Amino acid sequence: PDHAKGRGGGPPAAEDSYPVDGDFTDTWTRTAAATWELDDSNTLPLLEESPVEPMSDEVWVWDTWPLTGLDTRTENVRGWKIAFSLTADKDLDFVERHWTAEIGYFISRDGRDWQYQGDLFPEDVDPPGQREWAGSSVIVGDRVYHYYTASGTEGAADGDLEYFRQRLAVASARIVAGPDGVEFTDWTDHEIIAAADGELYQSLEQSAGSPIIYGFRDPWVFRNPDDGEIYMLFEGNTPGARAECDEDDLGPGPYPPLEEGAGFYNGNIGLAASEGGSMTEFELLPPIMSANCVNQQLERPHATFRGGDVYLWTITHKFTFAPALQDTGSDALVGFVGPSLRSDYEPLNGSGLVLSNPPENNTQSYSWYVMPGGFVESFLDNVEGEYIGSLGGTAKIAIQGQARTKLVKVFDTPFIR
Ligand code: FRU
Repeated sequence: PDHAKGRGGGPPAAEDSYPVDGDFTDTWTRTAAATWELDDSNTLPLLEESPVEPMSDEVWVWDTWPLTGLDTRTENVRGWKIAFSLTADKDLDFVERHWTAEIGYFISRDGRDWQYQGDLFPEDVDPPGQREWAGSSVIVGDRVYHYYTASGTEGAADGDLEYFRQRLAVASARIVAGPDGVEFTDWTDHEIIAAADGELYQSLEQSAGSPIIYGFRDPWVFRNPDDGEIYMLFEGNTPGARAECDEDDLGPGPYPPLEEGAGFYNGNIGLAASEGGSMTEFELLPPIMSANCVNQQLERPHATFRGGDVYLWTITHKFTFAPALQDTGSDALVGFVGPSLRSDYEPLNGSGLVLSNPPENNTQSYSWYVMPGGFVESFLDNVEGEYIGSLGGTAKIAIQGQARTKLVKVFDTPFIR
């Protein structure tokens, strides 16, 4: 395919669109990422004390997503807002949480005060993995489709390759809401809906030499306003053991000279298309964005739609940038704007950086998720080194023109809109 850039960095235009089922994969270039710079428009304030009460005394809370419709908007059901979170027992060290993660859910009347409802999946229907990682929950009629990452192969021991396997899964349930709360009933079995094939997406086996765990996770399902079809975004990696980076990946420069092992940093944003409008059958398509020799993880990709443009969002860590970019990089929300789902995107603010942790505490919060209207929820990881493990204050960003953003405000509380 011709991956040559259609334009020299001008605003997104219709001619930069490609067929959604085609093989154009845009690149977050090393040149763009090298201009990463923290300033007032993107840097979150350093916290000296936690502004929030923990949402639960029982469980740590991290990656969180609101119940949405296929149009990506937050849905209320009988006046309840519902948030789904990765959770782990507070008896565990916070840093160990990933390996026992289960999806829990919370309900709220105002989007600020949240009541913990326990585990999402009933015990009698077993999820197909060792643990549950991030996903999305989409309501259609009276059913909610819960997409998530089935992480780890049942029975694998810590350190085995299989311990790190990730596949995309779904289970659906009827939602029953009333004055006293929200329940899910009539569960389907859990189904695996996608796995890394080694052709479009790096497989677990191919990733064996990588310095960082591979990704095939974080499914996010929505209807594309352009063509009315249902798609799924997810986090993946470029197939093969490591990426061979060419000028499409690198851009025109300047950028730091390619370091040893830069090709292991090969994150991408994957795409799958629903077959005939099905909520449970999806076909893998080529990725829409890759970050070869730039960053190994483009986590929890999601999108918002505005004025005919697609705003593509993802989160990433300082330590997952290619080594030569780690000094300048930071834990952050990254964004791109393009004229359609598969297009030649423009990194927001030139580098892609939208929101960053303050340099004094690069791990203060994480897992930013942009809701329509520019409200960004995230969890607080730590305040001055003390673990919090609960949603932090929602941030509000403004989009200025087409491709610039600005941090406007940080609320004192979590606020799901
Ligand atoms: C982001 C993330 C997700 C993953 C989860 C595992 O914080 O790494 O990509 O699903 O955390 O805990």
